[in-house]
Amino acid sequence: MRNISLLLLLCIYLSIDISFSLSSSLFNGKIWHITDTHYDFLYQTGGDTTKQCREVPGKKTVDGIVYSKKFENDNNNKNNNINIIHHPNDTASAVGSYSCDTPYELLISSFEAMVKIEPNPDFIIWTGDDPPHFETYQLNQSLVLQSISNMTELIKYYFPDTRVYPSIGNHDSFPEHQIPIGPNWLFDAITEYWSPFLTNSSLETLQYGGYYTELVEPGFRIVSLNTVFYYTQNKQCLNLTDPAGQFAWLNSTLYQAKLNNELVWIIGHVPPGYNEKYDIYNFHKQFNDIYLEAFSDYSDIIVAHFYGHEHSDAFRLYYDRPSMGEDFPTGIMFLTPSLTPWQNPWVPAPPNNPSLRLYHYNYTDFTLLDYDQYWTNLTDNIKTNEINWMLEYRAREFYHVEALDHISMYEAYLLIEQVPEMLDTYKLYNSVSYPSKGCDDVCKRIQLCSIRHPFVKGFKTCLVSV
Ligand SMILES: *[C@@H]1O[C@H](CO)[C@@H](O)[C@H](O)[C@H]1NC(C)=O
Ligand SMILES: *[C@@H]1O[C@H](CO)[C@@H](O)[C@H](O)[C@H]1NC(C)=O
Ligand SMILES: *[C@@H]1O[C@H](CO)[C@@H](O)[C@H](O)[C@H]1NC(C)=O
Ligand SMILES: *[C@@H]1O[C@H](CO)[C@@H](O)[C@H](O)[C@H]1NC(C)=O
Ligand SMILES: *[C@@H]1O[C@H](CO)[C@@H](O)[C@H](O)[C@H]1NC(C)=O
Ligand SMILES: *[C@@H]1O[C@H](CO)[C@@H](O)[C@H](O)[C@H]1NC(C)=O
Ligand SMILES: *[C@@H]1O[C@H](CO)[C@@H](O)[C@H](O)[C@H]1NC(C)=O
Ligand SMILES: *[C@@H]1O[C@H](CO)[C@@H](O)[C@H](O)[C@H]1NC(C)=O
Repeated sequence: MRNISLLLLLCIYLSIDISFSLSSSLFNGKIWHITDTHYDFLYQTGGDTTKQCREVPGKKTVDGIVYSKKFENDNNNKNNNINIIHHPNDTASAVGSYSCDTPYELLISSFEAMVKIEPNPDFIIWTGDDPPHFETYQLNQSLVLQSISNMTELIKYYFPDTRVYPSIGNHDSFPEHQIPIGPNWLFDAITEYWSPFLTNSSLETLQYGGYYTELVEPGFRIVSLNTVFYYTQNKQCLNLTDPAGQFAWLNSTLYQAKLNNELVWIIGHVPPGYNEKYDIYNFHKQFNDIYLEAFSDYSDIIVAHFYGHEHSDAFRLYYDRPSMGEDFPTGIMFLTPSLTPWQNPWVPAPPNNPSLRLYHYNYTDFTLLDYDQYWTNLTDNIKTNEINWMLEYRAREFYHVEALDHISMYEAYLLIEQVPEMLDTYKLYNSVSYPSKGCDDVCKRIQLCSIRHPFVKGFKTCLVSV
């Protein structure tokens, strides 16, 4: 962001109030996970919430395009039913709207909140999706690149001395979701933007495939994957068995890590497995199980996976050899919810409150100890025109576990399965405490099976047997 003084002014104006208590574990590592910010540079306060807050009645749009007309045209072209839900008294307030992407004030307040809660994280993982949601007409390559470079600069501005490990999201491209193997305009650009964060060998694989690995410190490695290659909406890699050689590279990277006695964290945007929020698979089916199997010889060195994309707070268990049964998990994946509250108008799923997540890990053995899930109540913010960030819950406390390894999280799963109040609260946290409609039998099965069975066959069997 060039206009730093405007930033500062806004921060003072917003007078952000943080409710949190100091964590007792002062000597452990802490990291922010930033994901799905979807800042909308076209958001207009007072805008029509049925038109993504980009059009103020009786006023010309920012770029002079009559938005509603285009919106309807695009929608007709998609030949899809639009499913706009009117939230009670929802207006495009300066602090945000459930119908729309992140306005400037919400974006800035999230960074102000992060530096107030934990200004010196050991590093940041940033799993993508910076541009706003929309069909192709109001975006283009240069606006998408601007979104990514603006976000890069914003993170650097608020966390100037912090290492950042980014991953590419399905919206970080144009047209959205379409990412072919590199080199291409997108990988060339992110290689340039992210060069301050990454070593030369990472920049090489980033430019070719949008993936890389970095040694955080001796014995501790991050592997950042480009899972958009496997995403159901990406049509660019359907004919390929191993887009940009990522699977082969992943195998040799993990093999080498194991030889070197390193522990590994996997980060990426789109998670594998079943999307409990949209009731669909995230990956093309030919990629889902192959992706998961790529980790099966290495679960002893993989601490956890970290993803975004679904705008949902969830986790998934993992198994090395699903053909041998999926009784005892060998791995764990966490999904962090989004900053954007945006409700997808094409899918019957709730919106969510804006989220920020801080993970705690052990400095000595790099295992995950806990996370603090922060949120802001947008319903309340719209009433008061202020943004108050609060602690929603702590993982260890809510799940009644000692740590966040796969064994503890399997116990957490059993609690959710067996205690109805746990499932209800898990479901409420899915949408960052946006009021839940409750969970009928179908919903319950989808929730439980998506946690328990990321592999296609296991999930299908689970759905009919839970
Ligand atoms: C919505 O707005 C109306 C009119 O301003 C007001 O009477 C009502 O209390 C509001 N409802 C909520 C849920 O805020
Ligand atoms: C992208 O869109 C913006 C806003 O409409 C426009 O100013 C810019 O010229 C466009 N860039 C390209 C490369 O089409
Ligand atoms: C990037 O930041 C500039 C300067 O603050 C702003 O004018 C522009 O709208 C931003 N672009 C996007 C795509 O967010
Ligand atoms: C990384 O690449 C840049 C540009 O090619 C080069 O100037 C620099 O010396 C390289 N750094 C290392 C550590 O190899
Ligand atoms: C995939 O293969 C089909 C059939 O050979 C071809 O029509 C299509 O263009 C290919 N798609 C891509 C993205 O290469
Ligand atoms: C992974 O790499 C190791 C070492 O090169 C090799 O022995 C093994 O066959 C590879 N596995 C797969 C699935 O490619
Ligand atoms: C961190 O890991 C070390 C080595 O495994 C262990 O001795 C220590 O108790 C752990 N700390 C916490 C807070 O779990
Ligand atoms: C969010 O704020 C609204 C409006 O003030 C309130 O009714 C609701 O209970 C709050 N939600 C939670 C989970 O605190």
